Amino acid sequence: MRRIRTQVGIIGAGPAGLMLSHLLHQSGIESVVLESRSRQRVEERVRAGVLEQGTADLLRQTGVGARLEREGLPHDGIELSFSGHRHRIDMAELTGKRITVYAQQEVLKDLIQARFSAGGQLLFEVAGVTLHGLSSENPFVLFLDAAGMQVRLDCDYIAGCDGFHGVSRGSIPPKELTVYEQTYPFAWLGILAQAPPSSEELIYTHHQRGFALFSMRSPQITRLYLQCAPGEDIANWPDERIWEELIARFKTHDGWTPAQGPILQKGITDMRSFVVEPMRYGRLFLAGDAAHIVPPTGAKGMNLAVADVWVLSRALEEFYRSGFATLLQQYSETCLRRVWKVQRFSWWMTSMLHRFEGGNGFEEKRQLAELDYVTTSRAAMTMLAENYVGLPFTTTL
Ligand code: APR
Ligand code: PHB
Repeated sequence: MRRIRTQVGIIGAGPAGLMLSHLLHQSGIESVVLESRSRQRVEERVRAGVLEQGTADLLRQTGVGARLEREGLPHDGIELSFSGHRHRIDMAELTGKRITVYAQQEVLKDLIQARFSAGGQLLFEVAGVTLHGLSSENPFVLFLDAAGMQVRLDCDYIAGCDGFHGVSRGSIPPKELTVYEQTYPFAWLGILAQAPPSSEELIYTHHQRGFALFSMRSPQITRLYLQCAPGEDIANWPDERIWEELIARFKTHDGWTPAQGPILQKGITDMRSFVVEPMRYGRLFLAGDAAHIVPPTGAKGMNLAVADVWVLSRALEEFYRSGFATLLQQYSETCLRRVWKVQRFSWWMTSMLHRFEGGNGFEEKRQLAELDYVTTSRAAMTMLAENYVGLPFTTTL
């Protein structure tokens, strides 16, 4: 069996794993990233696309922001649409910060390129990853490399960045973990359309037929979502039905509708809120979707993954520089404070905007009052805005 050694073994090359490897390299710490998919699959998967101010700043400050700077679309506000009218939340004016629309897979391409140019070790198409010795001083990972050869990776620490369905969380004895979970009685159907975005800003829409979201990827590509039933079969949604439904939901009294064009890609995403505590077991640290999932309504999944690994990189940097493990000891608690605030925000946005079947009308009236309040009270608007642009990154409790 081939044996390799590194300081930090990272499972998963999503936003969490790649950003961690990049940040550690900036601090002179070596890592090896193990990813089960091919580089092409990782770079092609269509996911979310909103970067908080702090996420975009971190990419720029660490030398991976050049394309983001050129191609990212900065947004100073978002719009909420309900009862046939659109209302703007001016995030820049309320908070001094903004968001940037830049697709997750573009962030991944930039990080992969940066890691390879710096001589980083990213191993794609590995299989059979298992974690060992987590509660010892000498943890290691066994896996099969792309050629099917068995490899042992010895490391000081392991970062479980392998998403919700990865192996890392399951390697922790269940009695050590507490799971908090909530599912929602709906899903999102998302499309990419070859159509120039007909609104400059994102539009979150409350409608009796269900939620809809207008977003974009570039000056030529619109990204749209609509609330549908959980477990819905995409075959039930021919393109004409998707457009009909989107237009019905987005239409405002002034006649605005999204511009249409050929649908390039479509898919359905289930919605859940999930947190596991603590985010650490011995020498294994969980980060990103491996530890928590938020419903996409707050656009927080990727940003939360980046915030986790920023905390972890600061903690590992302190450990390798000074030998102190204080920040490592606090890792889970530090991350969970942010995680729960982001859970709260994502749940709040979700419950304000989606249609809940079978109510007696009370829920809908409450939602409309909430939307009225959040678009007229400066205090309420500021609450939305400061969460949307992103809470500050911090390593302290
Ligand atoms: N071995 C190696 N790699 C694995 C394994 C495994 N057993 N299981 C999963 N992976 C890989 C996946 O193929 C994926 O590329 O781990 C990666 C996890 O990436 P994400 O699921 O993107 O999770 P994360 O990096 O935490 O980012 C969270 O990104 O994907 C979005 O919706 C998600 O916005 C959220 C954010
Ligand atoms: C997206 O553009 O994909 C997007 C935007 C905002 C969200 C979720 C997804 O809340």
